[in-house]
Amino acid sequence: MTSLAGKRIVLGVSGGIAAYKAVEICRRLMDEGAHVIPVLTKGATRFVGRTTFDALASERVQMSLFDEDDPIPHTTLGQTADCVLVAPATARVIGAYAAGISSDLLTATLIATRAPVVVCPAMHTEMWEHPAVAHNIATLAERGVHIVGPESGRLAGGDEGAGRLSSPADVVAAVSRVLDVGEKRSDMAGLSVVVTAGGTREPIDPVRYIGNHSSGKQGYAFAEEAAGRGASVTIVTTVDRPGPLGATVASGVTVVRVDTAEEMAAATADAAKDADVVIMAAAVADFRPVDPAGVKLKKRDGVPAIELEPTPDILASLGASKPEGQILIGFAAETCDVADNAAAKLNGKGADYIVANDVTAESAGFAHDTNEVLVLASDGRAHSVGLRSKRQVAQAVLDLVVADRDGRADVR
Ligand code: C5P
Repeated sequence: MTSLAGKRIVLGVSGGIAAYKAVEICRRLMDEGAHVIPVLTKGATRFVGRTTFDALASERVQMSLFDEDDPIPHTTLGQTADCVLVAPATARVIGAYAAGISSDLLTATLIATRAPVVVCPAMHTEMWEHPAVAHNIATLAERGVHIVGPESGRLAGGDEGAGRLSSPADVVAAVSRVLDVGEKRSDMAGLSVVVTAGGTREPIDPVRYIGNHSSGKQGYAFAEEAAGRGASVTIVTTVDRPGPLGATVASGVTVVRVDTAEEMAAATADAAKDADVVIMAAAVADFRPVDPAGVKLKKRDGVPAIELEPTPDILASLGASKPEGQILIGFAAETCDVADNAAAKLNGKGADYIVANDVTAESAGFAHDTNEVLVLASDGRAHSVGLRSKRQVAQAVLDLVVADRDGRADVR
């Protein structure tokens, strides 16, 4: 396989115990035909010898900002790279990169490059979960840096938890995806997917409504990820695609615009009849005014008493009439007791999965470009997806869905 043929990849290795896995990553990149230039930090050489990379990579290891042959190695590396990959990325390197501090060749190259950057964090759980690290990761993700992992599992010193470097195969696959040279995933080809997005608007009068802070970003990320993997997708949404003005939705996605929960219920029920996967990412209002005023309410008439009634629970009614084999995914935007509330929703709404997040968390939930979720499955499995872009969250959840379908005998 030579899917990375001709691609110049700067492989940054920083000083964590997982640095030994960078040797395998280097070898796999070489196997894919990449031109690999290893850049090690001083700390990295405590864990792996530079001779190992010298022998395996396309060029010899570089470590110094003050190279004898090239007076500006960081700009040369940054300008000529097709991709800068940092694996493992320690809390220090992540922090320096997020803050724009270039204290060694690797961090200087990261700041000097305009090529796509893939950062693969690896550290102990306490460090990974520290608010400073979480904040730095969110900053990088919002700037478009691709964050891969970490996974949960065994860590140095016999501890278990989140913080393990993603597998070399996953890291190399991520680089291929980022460079758009990997095999196009088509594992959702032939599937019909319905996604809801945005917050519904329940009119009080012709100019006012009850609404919420949902941006629709997570819903659109699901729609575009599913379409990119070959599905035919209908998005039932209250909002245009978030993003730069004039940004259009990806091909393969049909947009149905609605405003109220009632309209969303009708459009979703219609689209979901023949769907293989239904993803209820919308923040549907739970209450609406019973009798919206036909004309604008006037201040001079005093504070109106607005009587509310429940809206139709779209997810619950889809759950109650779910066709055989359909996978139904609900969302739980919570402000406390995330896991318990999500488990209650899973049981109460007949969904196969609930994707739960704490909307009060920094850098996750409404309006952000990043999210951090807990996925509960109806068979009791739980899967946590650490802070990453909403597109990557969609990817992780759809990976579960595809694996679930592949493992089911009764899929349509
Ligand atoms: O019960 P709660 O509103 O928190 O449940 C959230 C999930 O239910 C989301 O997937 C949301 O899209 C869906 N929902 C719905 N109809 C409602 C309220 C919520 O489909 N009226």
